[in-house]
Amino acid sequence: MNYLKGKTVWITGASSGIGEQLAYACAKRGARLILSARRESSLDIIRKKCRLLGADCFVAVFDLSIPEQVDRTARKILSEHPAIDVLINNGGISQRSTAVETSAETVRKIMEVNFFAAVRLSQWVVPVMIKNGGGVIAVTSSIAGKFGFPLRSAYAASKHALHGYFESLRLENRNNNIQVTLVCPGRVKTEISLNALSGQGTVYGKMDSGQKSGMSAERCAEKYIAAIEKNKREVLIGGRELMMVHLKRFLPALFYKIASRIKTT
Ligand SMILES: NC(=O)c1ccc[n+]([C@@H]2O[C@H](COP(=O)([O-])OP(=O)(O)OC[C@H]3O[C@@H](n4cnc5c(N)ncnc54)[C@H](OP(=O)(O)O)[C@@H]3O)[C@@H](O)[C@H]2O)c1
Repeated sequence: MNYLKGKTVWITGASSGIGEQLAYACAKRGARLILSARRESSLDIIRKKCRLLGADCFVAVFDLSIPEQVDRTARKILSEHPAIDVLINNGGISQRSTAVETSAETVRKIMEVNFFAAVRLSQWVVPVMIKNGGGVIAVTSSIAGKFGFPLRSAYAASKHALHGYFESLRLENRNNNIQVTLVCPGRVKTEISLNALSGQGTVYGKMDSGQKSGMSAERCAEKYIAAIEKNKREVLIGGRELMMVHLKRFLPALFYKIASRIKTT
């Protein structure tokens, strides 16, 4: 089975981490790629590597936190590539500050990047997919989309919001051949904590020990693509930390006991 061969895949957050590895995984499977993020120089390097893997690859640089840029880019991409088969809403930003110390502006920025941009892009792409007979919307949530956690109030809120929105979108389009796959990674070794925002919107800039010991982004990307290929509605990807999702669901008292004792960074 090679679902992605010959398909056009648009990946946001493709300049590093999980998105970068998703690009290579799709390139190896023979997909055509559109890679997006803000860092053009990183995207150019990744585009070259994807081309070496045999993939047609294009770059669209834009900022997910600026709605006008999201709309402008989507309009341009759809005029140049009228058949997007797979949209991977992966771009995202994390948080390292308590709820009361996080300014409303920082909360809004995190919501804009992690939630509203995915909504906007999907609103552009899904009608075109329906016209073309169907497609896949994949969304990078997190285990923080399944429970709240200290220092992640806005981040967890943005990831929870993705579940409500995209589960509804899936149900509304059950007769339109639109697959929606929500991916919830646990700890993956990427730059996510380095790029996270502190309460006043400055960059946190530290590598968390949890992040450092997480699953490799390459392994995460392989499991991510497997979930898309198997038409999974939702998948958890990670190590022991995934247990917290099951505890929250089945043994919530134990979940709160453990979560309140974990030393969070
Ligand atoms: N690593 C983990 O443990 C983990 C766990 C659960 C979920 N996730 C999720 O996985 C996704 C990818 O994160 P990652 O771990 O791979 O971290 P990462 O290496 O920091 O990647 C984040 C990606 O998002 C892009 N991005 C951030 N802000 C943006 C903006 N304003 N406009 C456009 N692009 C933006 C970044 O590109 P530019 O900086 O070039 O714009 C980068 O390509 C995120 O949605 C994250 O929440 C990660």
